[in-house]
Amino acid sequence: MSKEAINADLLSLCKRRGFVWPSFELYGGVAGMYDYGPLGSNMRNNIVEVWRDIYRGREGFIEIDSETVNPREVFKASGHVDEFADLVTYCGECESAFRADHLVKEFFDNPDVLSPKELDDAFVKHEIKCPECGGKLGQVEEFNLMFKTAIGPGSSRVGYLRPETAQGIFVNYLNLYRYNREKLPLGVIQTGRGYRNEIAPRQGMIRMREFNMMEVELFVDPDDKDWIRFREIENDLIALVPNTGTDTVTMTVGEAVEKGIIANRVLAYFVYTTQQFLTRLGIDPERLRFRQHLNDEMAHYAMDCWDAEVLLSYGWIEITGIADRGCWDLSRHAEFSGTELTHFKKFDEPREMEVDKVKAKHKALGPKFKEKAKTIAEAMEAKRPSDIKDGKLTLDLDGEDVILDGEFFEVVRIREKVSGERVVPHVIEPSHGLDRIFYSVLEHSFKHDEKEDYTVLRLVPDVAPIKVGIFPLMEKDGLDDLATDIYKRVHSPCMEAYYDGSGTIGKRYARMDEVGTPWCITVDYESLEGPNKGTVTIRERDTTAQKRIPSDSVPDILRSLLSGMSFEAL
Ligand code: GLY
Repeated sequence: MSKEAINADLLSLCKRRGFVWPSFELYGGVAGMYDYGPLGSNMRNNIVEVWRDIYRGREGFIEIDSETVNPREVFKASGHVDEFADLVTYCGECESAFRADHLVKEFFDNPDVLSPKELDDAFVKHEIKCPECGGKLGQVEEFNLMFKTAIGPGSSRVGYLRPETAQGIFVNYLNLYRYNREKLPLGVIQTGRGYRNEIAPRQGMIRMREFNMMEVELFVDPDDKDWIRFREIENDLIALVPNTGTDTVTMTVGEAVEKGIIANRVLAYFVYTTQQFLTRLGIDPERLRFRQHLNDEMAHYAMDCWDAEVLLSYGWIEITGIADRGCWDLSRHAEFSGTELTHFKKFDEPREMEVDKVKAKHKALGPKFKEKAKTIAEAMEAKRPSDIKDGKLTLDLDGEDVILDGEFFEVVRIREKVSGERVVPHVIEPSHGLDRIFYSVLEHSFKHDEKEDYTVLRLVPDVAPIKVGIFPLMEKDGLDDLATDIYKRVHSPCMEAYYDGSGTIGKRYARMDEVGTPWCITVDYESLEGPNKGTVTIRERDTTAQKRIPSDSVPDILRSLLSGMSFEAL
């Protein structure tokens, strides 16, 4: 089956069986927007639960849910207002818009690093015209990808729909740090919508304008980029494409760090965690690799970045990025908000160091503040030089703000024994494109037998939107009553069951196979009388093997199968 046919068949299945629907089809649709149907919503939630199981369960990270509309200040500080743009060209005749780099991709290995001028020159050199009407293309220009809005009436407060969930975590750093009892590492996860006003989305669910993300922001000590469980995985293999070439090299995670291919153990650990996560969802390990960004390809905030890429009908597609964002975000938010965003790192032993201190000018304080002067001096000397804003210090005295200028204090450098120092944490970020992962899992699970014209989605049970189909052989003679009773005992949000009593059994199996249901239970006449009374058949999707099991044990057996017990063990 050709790649194009797989893609077309899968998209048609998704639409027909309620996985995803193009949004607003009633009004002609909008490119790059999709709605999840009932099966798609179930499956997407299942993917999120596997991610939570790894990050909240195994790693013990905490989860938050922040706003999707953010004021401009957030994205000015994060760099998105100035840097988050693609290059666009408009046709001078039909006015269609195109991503400029996409028009020259057959001539360059990495067209997204070209400047506007280089793209203009490439259009002339390769005689590139408008793909829609053959018209002349206009000058390439920047197009910021954020959706802009106004917060409140009028346009006094500019806001943007967030292009990444990450910023909601960074702007909450102090709250999170306090919640974590001021300790590092501090791992925070968030899932939710992100928005990018893509210029011309043409790759189905791969490039969506409103999309779902699962982001992990791990704050670590910049001088200790290690991970406690690194030893458990250092001998495991990973397929890497370092940015020094284009070849895939398979090596152990430990070797990748020792050879300096992945810069540090914590980044390497989470590259490997991403491999564990994706393969657990059913991504084919043979069609998965980790490609390091070229220096000029990296996002404005990243020091290093590895993309998890999977081979799809569209070619190699990035579905997760694991970036070392260094101190970029916290330093920028500290600078733009005027609030220190640091971690106090305790030394093992106090050290003698030169430190800057706020010192009260008692001679100036006394005459002005009289009996309060001593209290003010103490409050002042408890402040840090970084608390001085525009040359002034604000003190909270019994609930009242007292603002003092440089007449009353100075900053002096002294040597003293200190118990620790303040550092700006670095951030390691595995950022997952949930919709892309969803589509990739479907494509890697999709099996179509052309001779039989039979489709099976070999979804892993954790991800499958329906876990079990429950059928009475005939909808009569009490078979339907027993099947309904089993359905009622089995069905729950973690064990989605589907009752189907219509059509031949073969057709019912086919309907379940097509949506990836791992098991089916059939109630037949033997269930009601004879030596097999009280039993039903259970069928496994991938082998089509069938066994008889006690009908009373169906819920327990399904739970065991879902927890990983093999079908042969039944
Ligand atoms: N937070 C990573 C990204 O936006 O791709």
